[in-house]
Amino acid sequence: MTSTAVAHPNIALVKYWGKADADLALPATGSVSMGLDVFPTTTAVTLLDQGEQDAFTLNGRVVDDGALVRVERFLDLVRDLAGSDARAAVVSENTVPTGAGLASSASGFAALAVAAADAYGLDLSARDLSRLARRGSGSATRSIPGGVSVWHAGDDQASFAETVPAPPMAMVVVTINDGPKEIGSREAMRRTIATSPFYPAWVTSTTVTVDDMLAACAAGDFTRIGELTESNALRMHATIEGAFPPIRYLNSRSVAVFDAVAAMRADGLEAYATADAGPNVVVLCRPEDRARVATALDGQGAVIESGTGPAARLLRSEGTGE
Ligand code: DP6
Repeated sequence: MTSTAVAHPNIALVKYWGKADADLALPATGSVSMGLDVFPTTTAVTLLDQGEQDAFTLNGRVVDDGALVRVERFLDLVRDLAGSDARAAVVSENTVPTGAGLASSASGFAALAVAAADAYGLDLSARDLSRLARRGSGSATRSIPGGVSVWHAGDDQASFAETVPAPPMAMVVVTINDGPKEIGSREAMRRTIATSPFYPAWVTSTTVTVDDMLAACAAGDFTRIGELTESNALRMHATIEGAFPPIRYLNSRSVAVFDAVAAMRADGLEAYATADAGPNVVVLCRPEDRARVATALDGQGAVIESGTGPAARLLRSEGTGE
C-alpha cells in the first residue's frame, strides 16, 4: 500500500509565533497565510511488513537524525488514530530549501499528513487533516487548505485552518540564504516566550491583527492587507530580537530588500515585505505587478514569483486492489 500526496508551503500574512500548548501544538494566537504555487513537497508513504522499522528518505538521502524522530512521532499519532502498529517508509521530495525559513516543514508535514492518513486507511475531513498536520509542525496546519487561510487558535478540536475569501494576490520570494538557519523556529519560539519582554504584547496585538486581516481580506482591500502584513512581520522580528540571548533572523541583505520594497511603494508600485524565521524576504503584491516586482528585486537574491497555491491533495493510492 503506497499513498502519495503533494502540498505547498504557505507564507503567513499574520504570523504564528508561540504555542499555548506544545504537546498538542496549539498556537497562542490565530494566524493567516497565503499558500504558494511553487516549492511543492511530494511524499509517498508505504506500509511495511511486520518487524521492519520506520524509515525516512528526503531528496534521495536516508535520514537518521532528529528529523526521523519527528516523522516517527508523527506516524505514531496516525497509528493511534488508525489502531495500527504497522511501520512505514516515507519518501519525500522537497523542493523548498529545507530549514532556511521558507516553510519547508509546512509543506512537508502537510504532504505527510495526507499521504499517511490514506496509507493507514483513515478517511479524514480537510479539517481533521489540518488538525493532524498541526501536530507535525504548526505552520503545516495552513498548508492543508488552499488559497488564503486562517488557522484558528483554540483547543485541539477547534484549532484547524480553512480557506477564507481574499482578493487575488501574488508573492515574490527573495532567497538570500538557502542554507539551514542557526536556530530553528521551535527553539527560538521557546526562548522568545521565556525571555522576550515583548512577547505578551505580541500575543495581544496579533490577536487583534488576525481579525483586522480577515476583515481586510473579506473586503478585498489589498492595501490594508499589505500594510498589516509588513507591520506584523516586523512586530514578530522585534519580539524575537527581544529574546535573551537575542535572536536575529534578518541580516543586512534582508533589510535591503525591505528598503527596496519601500522605495517601490514610493514609486507607486504597491508591494509589502514579510520574512519568517530566516533571512529570506517574501514580497506580497498584486498578481498583475509580480513581474515588475521581481525585476525590481533582481540582484538582491534568487528571485522566484508565486501565485496563490492549491490545497494539499492525494496524488495516488496504490496497492489496495481498488
Ligand atoms: C516564522 O511551524 O516551523 O514561519 O510549530 O514549532 O514546527 P513549529 O514551528 P513552525 O513555525 C513557523 C513560524 C513562522 C511564522 C508562520 O509561519 O506563521
